[in-house]
Order: sequence, then C-alpha cells, then structure tokens
Amino acid sequence: MDFAIRPYQPSDLPSLYRICLETVFGGAPVIAQYSDPDLLGHFYAAPYAVLEPDLCFVLTSDGAPCGYVLGTRDTAGFRAACELEWFGVLRTRYPLPLETDKSRDAAMIRLIHAGQPSGLEFPDHPAHLHIDLLPHAQGGGWGRALMTRFLKELRAADVRGVHLGVGTRNVGAVRFYERVGFVLLKEDNGALWYGMKLETNERSQA
Ligand SMILES: CC(C)(COP(=O)(O)OP(=O)(O)OC[C@H]1O[C@@H](n2cnc3c(N)ncnc32)[C@H](O)[C@@H]1OP(=O)(O)O)[C@@H](O)C(=O)NCCC(=O)NCCS
Repeated sequence: MDFAIRPYQPSDLPSLYRICLETVFGGAPVIAQYSDPDLLGHFYAAPYAVLEPDLCFVLTSDGAPCGYVLGTRDTAGFRAACELEWFGVLRTRYPLPLETDKSRDAAMIRLIHAGQPSGLEFPDHPAHLHIDLLPHAQGGGWGRALMTRFLKELRAADVRGVHLGVGTRNVGAVRFYERVGFVLLKEDNGALWYGMKLETNERSQA
C-alpha cells in the first residue's frame, strides 16, 4: 500500500466522519453501537476540518483517506467559533435526550449541547488535537508522521503548547502519546490529559 500525508480537502469530510466512527474504540467495531453514525464526527472531527482546515492533515492509502490529525491553535477561540457557527443547527436537529436515556447516541447529544471544553485550565497549552488512523494504517510510523506535521504547523504559528485527552483504557494511544513526547498534565474521571510545550524560533532565540 502506498501511504501519503496531504492537506485536508473539503471532499475528505465524509471520510473524516467515517474514520472518527471506526476508530473511537481504538479500531473495535462500533458502528452498530450508534444509531446515528454522524454523531461522533459532528463533535470530534468535522468542526475542526471546517473551522480550521489549514490545521487538518489527511493520511491516504492508495489515494483513499485512512487517517487524520486535526485540531485548533486556540481552544477558547475554537469553542466560541463552534458556538457561533457549528453547534446551533445541531442542537435543533438533536434535542437534549431524557436523563433516563443512557444510550451512546444520548451521551454524544449531551456533549453537543455542552459544547467544546474551554481549555482554559491548560493556559500553557492553548492548542488541542485529535488523531485517528484506521487499523490497516496503524503501527507503521504514520501516526508519528502526522503528529510531526501538525506540530510543525503549530510552531510556525508560534503556539506555545498543545494538549489532548485520551481515555485511560486506550492504552495503545497513551503509549503513543508518551513516545512522541507528550507529558501527563491531569487525570480526571476516566480521562488522561496530556500536553507538550512547543519551542518556536522566536522563543528559542529569546
Ligand atoms: C494511536 C495512534 C494514533 C498511533 O499511530 P500509529 O501510526 O499506530 O503509531 P506509530 O506507528 O507512528 O508509533 C509511534 C510510536 O508510538 C509507539 N506506539 C504506537 N502505538 C503503540 C501501542 N499500541 N503500544 C505501544 N507503543 C505504541 C510506537 O512503538 C512508536 O514508537 P517509536 O517511534 O519510538 O518506535 C493510532 O494507532 C490510532 O489511530 N489508533 C486508533 C485511534 C486512537 O486510539 N486514537 C487516539 C484517540 S485519543
């Protein structure tokens, strides 16, 4: 298979939704667990590609998207942009479920109503990211390559740090983040928050 990394194109959006859904549990089958297959992508993938397309990079195998890294330079600003431009129509489309509804769809709809976390608790790490590769693309160094491409873009934009969240049970991803240089910032309610400070040319010369 011929793998390559390229900038996001708008025609990639359906593939981002699919990859987001298919990798949510590290690659285990999940499609049957969501009656609406778009819910995850509405929150974890599409708003980044649409609102910050220049920070979205796509991994292809033989030309077909099979992975991505995407995120925001400024988590607080991204949250505000999502409130203005992204979540309104989704909140109308997906009304808040009853508290008794414990389905996975209901959990995602509650997140859509809660909005993106502000990120203000990590002021030294204002950017955040998500990275997902389909199983056939994992383990070959492409996650590291995507991460390197994304971090290069943040450094060029003089961003001072980046954070991310990962489930405590996603042991493979935790190992990956530690191998590529992230350090644990916080553990909280089944999630681990990792961060990386970024040296830019300006800061390293200061
Ligand atoms: C986690 C993920 C992004 C890693 O990408 P990848 O292409 O598989 O990882 P790479 O091959 O680039 O590995 C980079 C380094 O991390 C290590 N690593 C990656 N996955 C690992 C695992 N499961 N266990 C231990 N180490 C791992 C590699 O050994 C490698 O170390 P080295 O470069 O020092 O030799 C990818 O496997 C993935 O998308 N998984 C499913 C979705 C997911 O969990 N996303 C994260 C959600 S928070």
